[in-house]
Amino acid sequence: MSQPRSSLKNILVTGGSGFIGSNFIRLLLTDEGLLDDCRIVNYDKLTYAGNPENLSDLEGDERYEFVHADICDAEAVERTLKTYEIDAVVHFAAESHVDRSILDSSPFIHTNVVGTQILLDACRRVGVSRFVQVSTDEVYGSLPASGFFTEETPLAPNSPYSASKASADLLVRSYCQTFDFPGIITRCSNNYGPYQFPEKLIPLFITNAMNDQPLPVYGDGRQIRDWIHVVDHCRGVLAALLNGQPGQVYNFGGLCELENLVLTSTLLRVLGKPESLITFVKDRPGHDRRYAIDCRKAAEELAWQPQISFKQGLEETVEWYLSNNEWISRIRSGDYRKYYEQQYGQRLG
Ligand code: NAD
Ligand code: DAU
Repeated sequence: MSQPRSSLKNILVTGGSGFIGSNFIRLLLTDEGLLDDCRIVNYDKLTYAGNPENLSDLEGDERYEFVHADICDAEAVERTLKTYEIDAVVHFAAESHVDRSILDSSPFIHTNVVGTQILLDACRRVGVSRFVQVSTDEVYGSLPASGFFTEETPLAPNSPYSASKASADLLVRSYCQTFDFPGIITRCSNNYGPYQFPEKLIPLFITNAMNDQPLPVYGDGRQIRDWIHVVDHCRGVLAALLNGQPGQVYNFGGLCELENLVLTSTLLRVLGKPESLITFVKDRPGHDRRYAIDCRKAAEELAWQPQISFKQGLEETVEWYLSNNEWISRIRSGDYRKYYEQQYGQRLG
């Protein structure tokens, strides 16, 4: 994909210490070479999912700054936008896990909805030239056995998480319409790759299998997700930032639909672990059956398409977790243990 050189100078990335945000910042600063003259400011509250270790390799890079703050703190947001003369914002910060939103939806409303509104107002006051709202295909709800989500699919969120993301998307849309705000919305399918917090399916199953622990498959395990490597998603967000049209929505997907059970067996095979680790547990309430993305608009208008095959991406991801046992151990020895017991009614081994 060829991209014009960016005229952006100071980019604020919210939630840059999380899974996708950290991969995005690394892409900007190391892989693309497009933004060599840019400064990247990572604005992150460091919740349970935010981990400074995810970007420890960038310490000392003078193009990178970290601000430890909450997007719900209007003063801190505005001060940061002004101090660093921010001209574009890429908004990843969110509570991101569906199961946690079922246990307690309040942090989701607070950060994902109110936090986005606070950020939008500050950006409007300061006058940024671009704002990318990083959203999810879950806002479209669930698909039957056929069909795809397009950018025109009506919003029909089924979990408190997806309802909070849909609310934030609608706020962005309304600011574009009402204030001529330069907002762009991206909606992506399920990401996998390095630095993903192990509450999500792929890293949870890899880390449990590494420890010979059961893999808790919800319901019948026949639910379908469309898997995309995190770097392909990040390339899409970058393409939207550089070449997207304000007021537009762009879907990204991996063209890789898989049933959870098929994915689980593949993972066990790659890890050399037995199928007997699979354990069927109570289904997730309101569990969406199928997601699948039509990403032709991103291909046509942003010259974007996913490049990393699932086979290669999954093998590299497994290898990354196998090689980063200390990163995993630090998470699995902390508060995550309490969440695991509450969610699965079992102790983490
Ligand atoms: P994550 O949970 O790994 O990271 C979220 C980050 O946001 C963390 O660093 C956290 O500390 C930070 N954060 C949370 N609340 C904050 C607040 N109030 N102020 C400042 N920072 C805060 O999430 P992720 O999987 O990297 O997802 C990032 C974004 O991408 C989210 O908006 C999510 O909805 C969206 N998304 C995720 C996926 C996926 O498959 N993971 C797919 C599509 C879209
Ligand atoms: O589609 C994009 C979304 O993908 C993002 O917006 C979310 O932030 C991200 O968390 C992800 O949501 P899912 O709910 O699809 O991901 P999760 O990894 O939680 O679950 C994937 C599938 O695996 C889903 O069908 C539920 C199932 N599952 C999950 C867990 C954690 C299990 O069967 N067992 C589990 O223990």
